Amino acid sequence: MSDPSPIRPAGARSYAVCWTGGSGIVYGQRFVEVLLALGHQVHLCATDAALRVLAHEAGIAVDRARPDLAGRFGQVPPGRLLVHPIDAVEATPASGSARLAATIVVPCSMGTLARVAHGFSSNLAERAADVALKEGRPLVVVPRETPLSALHLENMLTLARLGAIVLPAMPGFYHRPGSVGDLVDFVVGKILDRLGIDHALVARWRTPDPASPWDEGEA
Ligand SMILES: Cc1cc2nc3c(=O)[nH]c(=O)nc-3n(C[C@H](O)[C@H](O)[C@H](O)COP(=O)(O)O)c2cc1C
Repeated sequence: MSDPSPIRPAGARSYAVCWTGGSGIVYGQRFVEVLLALGHQVHLCATDAALRVLAHEAGIAVDRARPDLAGRFGQVPPGRLLVHPIDAVEATPASGSARLAATIVVPCSMGTLARVAHGFSSNLAERAADVALKEGRPLVVVPRETPLSALHLENMLTLARLGAIVLPAMPGFYHRPGSVGDLVDFVVGKILDRLGIDHALVARWRTPDPASPWDEGEA
C-alpha cells in the first residue's frame, strides 16, 4: 500500500493512535492535536465505546459506524490524518509491514487492556497494538481506571513484560497545573517523552542552579 502523504516533512513519522472507552477522551484528542501540530501523520481509530465517551465527555456526537473525526482537528494537510473505522482490519495499522513508528492506545479501557494483553485483536485498535508488540515497535497504553483490581494490575504487568509502555493517566501536580489543560498536557507530554518526541508542553523539573551551563532540554 502506498504512503498517502504526498510530501513527508523531514523528521515526520507516522503513528497509530487508538481511542478506547476509558474516561479521559480529552487525552486522546490532545495527543492527536499535538502530533499533527508537530508535523506527524496520524492513523486514528476509535472504538464504539470511545465514541460514546466522546459524546458524553466532550459533547461531540459522531456517526459511530463511520466516525467523521478528521474535521475535529481544524485544517490538516491532506493525508496527514487518516481516520479508520474500528472494524477496518485491512487498514494500514493492521499490517506489520506498515511504516509506523509506534502505536498509542489513549485512553485505554480495562477491556481493551485485557484483550491486548491476551492477543485478541478483535478490532483495529487491538490489532494495531498486537502488531506493535510482534514487530517490536513501541506500544504505549494509557490505562484509566480507579481503583484497580488484581486482574487490571495483572494485565498491565503482562503488557509491561511483553515490552509495552504502561503509562497510566496519572498527572502529577509538581508543575503546579492551573487548568485541566495543564493536567492533560502533563500526561500527553509523558507519552511524547517515551516516544522520544521533543516538546515543550510542560516545564521540566530541575533544581534551581543559576550557575549551571546545562540547557534544561538536556538529559
Ligand atoms: C462515560 C464513560 C466512562 C467510562 N470510563 C471508563 C474508564 O475510565 N475505564 C474503563 O476501563 N472503562 C470505562 N468505561 C467503560 C468502557 O467504555 C466499557 O468497558 C467498554 O466496553 C470498553 O470498550 P472498548 O475497550 O472496546 O473501548 C466508561 C464508559 C463510559 C460510557
